[in-house]
Parts: sequence; structure tokens; C-alpha cells
Amino acid sequence: MELEPGLFLYSGYYDRCAQADLRDMLRTIVDAAPLFQPVMPKTGKPLSVKMSNCGPLGWVADKAGYRYQETHPMTGAPWPDLPPVLLNLWDAVAKEAPRPQACLINYYQPSAKMGLHQDRDEAMFTAPVVSVSLGDDCRFRTGTTERNGPTKSFKLHSGDVLVMGGESRLAYHGVDRIYPGTSTLLKAPGRINLTLRRVTA
Ligand code: SIN
Ligand code: MN
Repeated sequence: MELEPGLFLYSGYYDRCAQADLRDMLRTIVDAAPLFQPVMPKTGKPLSVKMSNCGPLGWVADKAGYRYQETHPMTGAPWPDLPPVLLNLWDAVAKEAPRPQACLINYYQPSAKMGLHQDRDEAMFTAPVVSVSLGDDCRFRTGTTERNGPTKSFKLHSGDVLVMGGESRLAYHGVDRIYPGTSTLLKAPGRINLTLRRVTA
């Protein structure tokens, strides 16, 4: 379903069994690349989400800025490989674009949220951003490419895939809130979001 020009929601893309496989795969990934606490560069204030990555590049946020890098900020090790199941997803929903290089893993505890922002640390914006929701529902907010433009919100559920491409590639977006206890996929209330991105041209 195209919600806005370039913004596609594949509701229930992954069934429960596929969600459980993704969850188990992510446990292996975060065993190797533990969740870390990103902070806002200017203020040093922690974001409310915890993060990790897989793929050749990972997105990090610390006092030195927002950027992609090849290694985990705490362990110094290269990020774990991007699993084939996520490359298959990209091929299914973003087949015209060169393959992704980064998969950001965001972990939201029940009180976590994410302020409105644009994804613009990549060197090319022709490839879409592909995101997967797992665990508890959230209220996702999306706007225009203007910071103070009008916004709309909708719920994302476990197993949903959202594609932000075309005119929506640089749209402001964020997560207003999590609805704890709306899914039994994860051991504890919370939500995981995976964001696949092409970084270099
Ligand atoms: C993000 O914009 O990095 C995350 C979006 C989401 O959690 O759905
Ligand atoms: Mn984003």
C-alpha cells in the first residue's frame, strides 16, 4: 500500500514464524555486536534507543558526530554480516537499487521513542530506506522534507515492512511511542526496528 508518494507499507510482510526466525538471528548478531548507547553529538545526551548494526557499514552516533563506520564502537570488531534473509527482503522491495551496506538495529524499551529526523548520512538518496518492525506496536510519524511540515501518524506492527523511497526518501520521520505488551515475540516488552540502507553511491 502506498501511503504517500514513495512511502510503501507492506503490512504483515513477515508471518509469526518468520518473525521468530528474525528474532533468533538478531540474538546471534547482538551476541557478537552488543547493543550500545548512542548519544547526540552536540549535547552528549543519550538517545532513548539502544543500537547495533550488521553489514559492512554501521551507523553510530557519539560526541564526534553521526556517521557510518566499519567497526563496532565498543568492541572494535567489524560488524556481523548482513544475513541473506535481509538481502532477500531488499531484492523483493527495492530491486532497482544497489544492495544495502548497513542494517541499523534499534532496540526500543517501552519508554523509548525517536524524535522527527531525516535519514541523510548516506552519500546517495536514490536507494530507498527499508525498515522492519518486530515486537510491540509503535506509533510511527511521517512528514514532508520540511522540518516543520505537516505530519501523519500510523501504527506499525510486528512483521510490517516500511519502504521510504522516491519523494519520501528524505521525509522527516520518527517514533512517538511504543505500545508495551502488544506482541509476545520478544521476551520483554519492547520493539526492534531494522533499517536497511545503501550508504555509498
Ligand atoms: C529510524 O528512523 O531509525 C527508526 C524508525 C523506526 O523505529 O521505525
Ligand atoms: Mn530514520
